[in-house]
Amino acid sequence: MKVHNRWRRLETINLIPSENVMSPLAEYIYLNDMEGRYAEGTLGSRYYQGTKYIDKLEGLLANLMGELFHAKFVDVRPISGTIANASVYAALAQPGDTIVSVPLNSGGHISHKTTGAPGIFRLKVVDLPWDNEEFNVDVDESIKLIREVKPKIVILGGSVYLFPHPVRELLEVSHEVNAVLLHDSAMCLA
Ligand SMILES: Cc1ncc(COP(=O)(O)O)c(C=O)c1O
Repeated sequence: MKVHNRWRRLETINLIPSENVMSPLAEYIYLNDMEGRYAEGTLGSRYYQGTKYIDKLEGLLANLMGELFHAKFVDVRPISGTIANASVYAALAQPGDTIVSVPLNSGGHISHKTTGAPGIFRLKVVDLPWDNEEFNVDVDESIKLIREVKPKIVILGGSVYLFPHPVRELLEVSHEVNAVLLHDSAMCLA
């Protein structure tokens, strides 16, 4: 462990933002008793005992996140980006449904593709048209594609960002075909 720590922290330039060195305050969470405790279920309705402070913290966090993102509903339980995306697929799509997402070789993430969680849910995945000059989603072509394939979920966001993805521009057409627009901002927050 010592050798690894020295190598990755002192001798390496880490280029994945979400993998970078955490603040000691954030690392403290992992040294805390809560780290290894079960808290399955929902706030106030857990499968295990001894969660009164976990409940308090989870409630506080959900309220703060709701305020920050002006969100009516917040779930802070997913333990990773992939699990968060899988929760959306489970809630909003059926096997055989189509979703559209940023191509992998343009910065899209595997959890938006059939080799990742959408494959488990048997969703069809179609790449959004990509503009290499702008290094962004091609808005006009994407509007055409969304009207044509009528996806259940339009996913924006990815692992490589140079510019913000066109959330506002694709929201109207998503609603027009009754799709939900999912913005996976895992990397924006990193
Ligand atoms: C856009 C995006 N979504 C989801 C994930 C997956 O997150 P996790 O590794 O926490 O499952 C990543 C990871 O890099 C990501 O870049």
